[in-house]
Amino acid sequence: MSRRRRGTLVATVAASALVVGLAGCGGDDLKESRADVVHGKQLFVERCGACHTLARAGTRGTAGPDLDAAFAQSLSEGFGRDTVRGVVHEQILYPNSQMPAKIVTGQNAIDVAAYVGQAAANPGEDEGALAAAVRRAEQSSATAENGRLAIPADPGGQLAYTVSEATAPAGPLEIDSVNESTVPHDIALQEGADGPELAKGETVSGGGVSRISVDVRPGRYTFYCTLPGHREGGMEGTLTVR
Ligand code: HEC
Repeated sequence: MSRRRRGTLVATVAASALVVGLAGCGGDDLKESRADVVHGKQLFVERCGACHTLARAGTRGTAGPDLDAAFAQSLSEGFGRDTVRGVVHEQILYPNSQMPAKIVTGQNAIDVAAYVGQAAANPGEDEGALAAAVRRAEQSSATAENGRLAIPADPGGQLAYTVSEATAPAGPLEIDSVNESTVPHDIALQEGADGPELAKGETVSGGGVSRISVDVRPGRYTFYCTLPGHREGGMEGTLTVR
């Protein structure tokens, strides 16, 4: 596995060095002075973090490689952060893989690449404007009203619902999970912490609502997102029925 990764990365490094070199003539280069890393971090958390773990960004996605691990080796082998930046930029625009292409483009891609280039495998925490760039997903509790319970997904695309603990009376219950972010999510409910799945709503994004209707008895339930890696990344909470 690490062998395959290393081969891929070095091949990409070579390709991207070429592209950066060529692009330099056209003026669309990746000079740090032109990149806004604060904006890059915001975009990374919103558009990339659901699939990638990056410690400084606080993201925990698992659908794609852990970017700290992915670049640790090449950095330790002496590749500079500029090279990492070039690789990330190249990967965003031309992924030779299952990763969707051009999730961000133009200046946005330059900003994201610059942020990942400086953050990947870089121990410690972001400070100053970078630390303030992304608010942590806020979580509170919620109570069902008139047989309805609202459990929105984090609007910023982080792997969290804005509700971590919910309560409802026994009986028919509709759970509505609006998702304002661009990262697809759904909501499902199971008994206890690992009981059978009782219901699962549609996968939605961009303001769609994932909805389930269940008849609940007193006890503890868990709600969670069924998309790969999202529950593991933190997208779950508990429902107590009284
Ligand atoms: C829907 C999930 C998904 C999203 C969103 C996504 N990626 Fe990826 N990414 C992947 C997968 C899967 C791979 C591994 C592809 C492969 O190697 O076959 C990958 C690979 C990568 C790699 C190469 C890592 C390595 O080991 O060489 C980088 C860099 C990367 N992504 C950066 C980004 C950035 C930056 C964004 C946001 C603009 C992003 N990704 C958004 C799924 C995603």
